[in-house]
Amino acid sequence: YHFLPPANWMNDPNGLIQWQGKYHLFYQYNPNGPFHGTIHWGHTVSYDLVHWTDLPIAMAPSPGGPDKDGCFSGCAVNNHGVATFMYTGVHPETQCLATSEDGLITWQKHPGNPVIAAPPPGLDTTGFRDPFVWQDGGIWYAAVGSGIKGVGGTVLLYQSADLVHWDYLNPICTGRLEETGSMWECPNFFPLGDKHVLLISPIPLRKTLFLIGAYDGRLFTPETQGIIDNGGCFYAPQTMLDDTGRRLMWGWLWERSSKAASCAAGWAGIMSLPRLLSILPDGTLGQQPVPELTALRGAHHHYSNLVVAPGAPAILPDPTGVCLEIVANFERGDALAFGIQVCRSPDGEEQTSIYFDGETGDLVVDTSRASTDATVAREVRRTPLPSDQTLKLRIFLDRSALEVFANDRVCLASRIYPTRADSRGLALFARGGAARLSSLDAWEMHSIWPVGERSALSVTQG
Ligand code: FRU
Repeated sequence: YHFLPPANWMNDPNGLIQWQGKYHLFYQYNPNGPFHGTIHWGHTVSYDLVHWTDLPIAMAPSPGGPDKDGCFSGCAVNNHGVATFMYTGVHPETQCLATSEDGLITWQKHPGNPVIAAPPPGLDTTGFRDPFVWQDGGIWYAAVGSGIKGVGGTVLLYQSADLVHWDYLNPICTGRLEETGSMWECPNFFPLGDKHVLLISPIPLRKTLFLIGAYDGRLFTPETQGIIDNGGCFYAPQTMLDDTGRRLMWGWLWERSSKAASCAAGWAGIMSLPRLLSILPDGTLGQQPVPELTALRGAHHHYSNLVVAPGAPAILPDPTGVCLEIVANFERGDALAFGIQVCRSPDGEEQTSIYFDGETGDLVVDTSRASTDATVAREVRRTPLPSDQTLKLRIFLDRSALEVFANDRVCLASRIYPTRADSRGLALFARGGAARLSSLDAWEMHSIWPVGERSALSVTQG
């Protein structure tokens, strides 16, 4: 029930926009194989944020054009009724425009491309890509990801009256090389609550950061900073404001298996579920799955009021499966750690543990025993989870994609690759004392693909 392309390679979400009510998701796409190369923009559309319909490829590299080596990441805006992409052409990295006049299906590249031909003179930059565009007071602004050599990652701010002629203003914000890397990919910059939020995907961190702070119209001053998702596969997220004023975010869930495994499977890369962003009372970024996802809930299983004793995990008779949503409410009791195992083989040889570590105060996803395949990533990932005595887990398990939301605030996304056909069980466990499960609801999830279309894919994709 996660979106992935019909076949081959996908990376970043691009061009997110709600157009005549429908959600359009474009994505970095290589139609020629399950590896990065000849980057096009794939396209899919949804009326409900849950079910997606594939549409033809929106953009391909133009031979001899500034995007001859790839149509890299960018965004979509509504320019007085004209759907417009601003994206990066390579090589070298320049900023380009394309417009559509048939409801976002076919795209015409601007004859004046590139509209920003080079980074600002006088700045010694590394990287110049992934424009993120917004309008304020009738003026267009673009934030372009970059880095200043020897200093750190940065976001360059431009302004324009018409999206075609751009003036460089200044770096909106610059990091320190030692802390936040040398180049910031895929910036997103937007107001949320009474703050401004900057999302960046810094090289070489291979994880995505949020910075929350104040914006004076030219400069952004971060006050709070954190990792958006420390699960080890969530990268290059893009956000959009939908018609109801919600700030929605999707990220690329990259593979944690080998290139050879992607080539054998014929796919690489999955899109995260859409997440709703908010500013939490403590000033950090809150993430929740969009409420629309409850439409996927099928057969329901319920437990309440169970004592989770320390020792051997308590296996739940139902449900079993690899496409589940689980909502579990725990009370810590005197346990040091407690949680749930998914994709557990009856003998426990394969298992993925999701738990609260009361000794460190972290939400943990432990994939170190998720698979007997030694070629896939298997590790312990954690994120701080301010907690009183209760833990609410909301787990979306979808074969190799696992997204765990906790206490309506943090998320860890993982990729798991169990090898055994019987790694389908659920179990509860506690360590160092007993916890209590106040309630657990689990649903077997429906497929997002209409019957017949892609049914072969949903069966075979790992
Ligand atoms: C992030 C990124 C972007 C670039 C795109 C190329 O994953 O490296 O900076 O535009 O992917 O596919």
